Amino acid sequence: MKGLILSGGRGTRLRPITYTSAKQLVPVANKPILFYALEDMVEAGITDIGIIVGETAEEVMAAVGDGSRFGATVTWIHQPDPLGLAHCVLVAREFLGQDDFVMYLGDNMLEQGLQPLLDSFAAARSSADGPSASILLSEVPDPHRFGVARLDDAGRVVELVEKPADPPSNLALVGVYLFTPAVHEAVAAIVPSERGELEITDAIGWLIDAGHTVHHELLTGWWLDTGKKDPLLESNRRVLETLEHRVEGSVDALTVVDGPVVVEPGATVVDCHLVGPVVIGAGARLAAARVGPDVAVGAGCEIVRSGVEHSVLLDGARISDVPRMVDSLVGRGTAVEGAPGGAPVASGRGVRLMVGDDCVIEL
Ligand code: DAU
Repeated sequence: MKGLILSGGRGTRLRPITYTSAKQLVPVANKPILFYALEDMVEAGITDIGIIVGETAEEVMAAVGDGSRFGATVTWIHQPDPLGLAHCVLVAREFLGQDDFVMYLGDNMLEQGLQPLLDSFAAARSSADGPSASILLSEVPDPHRFGVARLDDAGRVVELVEKPADPPSNLALVGVYLFTPAVHEAVAAIVPSERGELEITDAIGWLIDAGHTVHHELLTGWWLDTGKKDPLLESNRRVLETLEHRVEGSVDALTVVDGPVVVEPGATVVDCHLVGPVVIGAGARLAAARVGPDVAVGAGCEIVRSGVEHSVLLDGARISDVPRMVDSLVGRGTAVEGAPGGAPVASGRGVRLMVGDDCVIEL
């Protein structure tokens, strides 16, 4: 079993952050989203992993390295243009060979590990009319944003549609798929959709129409497509929920700490109120601030005389004199400055920001 992680594409829904960096490298609890997929694969014993990269190849390759620190061997596969998820399978043809594989969208995050899915696929595969693919479905309130599956009365997958205006069910396709080599015929046979992409939903639909069985599982834990700000903040919150308290930086005696916090080495916290879960990256400096809950502060950030809640600050962001900032995503090296004399407050509307890298915002 091989792994294929999709880390190309354009990430338009996370602009402006993705004008300057890959969406799969945006951090969740101070770790790039993409690393969660890699770790999930390795934990399930899949170590031969191909990663699709596009225009942000250089940055993604620098972040992942050769994969050895994850316990994986990584093969880089360049996709010249983001022509769709099924196109990724086409360009990975040589790497995939005749192996079964797990395809994992590099911007998806799942609570559950891959092992149960692999086990049930392997069990189904051992029967006479074993499936050629397995998809993972999740009930969602807004199916029109996803690929959607229709099941028949016997619970078999009979149709898949990509982002339908009129969804046939509330069962969205989660970004983790298991395939046998049968999918190669399917991706070669389909044509681009109206949005000009070779859709993996169409390739799976092609398999069904050609008489193959497509197995499905219903997801039990949480799942998020992090491609937009609010789901990204929600992923951050979910991962921070699992945080174990660890303080390696310096926290002075005036600081009050409620709930689990991680303070990385070299970070300094002076006269603050930390409301866990919160993670504070290496070398960050917090003074007279109220931070948390649900905040990830990147390495080298500064938060001074400000209140920050339910937000992600990328490395080197600086927040000063902003009494209350909520639900925000602040890019690398960006400065947000309020009027001096303010003090952090725990209630009120607050400012909500989604700002790219290297900006200066004076409130
Ligand atoms: O998140 C689940 C959804 O993912 C499914 O429900 C949909 O059926 C599926 O089509 C997909 O929809 P998205 O519109 O969210 O896909 P997106 O364009 O965001 O691409 C998913 C990942 O694949 C992302 O990490 C970028 C990467 N990608 C995308 C394309 C189109 C590539 O590497 N190459 C590509 O050509």
